Amino acid sequence: MSYNNWEDLKNDCKACRRCGLCETRNNVVVGVGNPNSRVMFIGEGPGQNEDLQGEPFVGRGGKLLDKMLAAVHLDRNKNIYIANIVKCRPPQNRDPLPEEQEQCSVWLKAQIELIKPKIIVCLGRIAAMKMFKEDIKITREHGQFFERDGILYMATLHPAAILRNPNSKPAAFQDYLNLQAKISELCPETYDELLN
Ligand code: URA
Repeated sequence: MSYNNWEDLKNDCKACRRCGLCETRNNVVVGVGNPNSRVMFIGEGPGQNEDLQGEPFVGRGGKLLDKMLAAVHLDRNKNIYIANIVKCRPPQNRDPLPEEQEQCSVWLKAQIELIKPKIIVCLGRIAAMKMFKEDIKITREHGQFFERDGILYMATLHPAAILRNPNSKPAAFQDYLNLQAKISELCPETYDELLN
């Protein structure tokens, strides 16, 4: 499926019944951010708070994510776009099944086609495996950039994992510093007040 405008994409995504997760969801969590941004963040899937509010990363992990973003001058409402591999909450926050990820991939592909990101940051192992490296070792390879089809991908630790293991915070934060440097090199307009 290919879209040339966001309204159609959002409406179709919100009406999706391509997998069983539609039976238990409260909201389809399409994504949030500035579609003119060249920097995308991709998580795994909505949790309980996201399912109730219809926005990605709005729980405790989301607060931490926003803080780390702010430290490198990134803001979900201004200069990045955030989405998930699956748009509906898996029951009991289990990992999304391969079949659910596959069915949902039409939406993420359409989002990527519209945004044309230069950089995609994967939040956690599941997103990184699906997006660019099936056998990623996230503890060793987070913070590194990998090129695939003209897009630079980086995995960083999932905010929920940092909350579980606060000792990992400095290492995770270094990823955001690496990202800031890469953005300045590839798409400095991200930091332009006038990014519309
Ligand atoms: N975890 C994710 O991977 N995505 C969200 O939107 C929330 C929590």
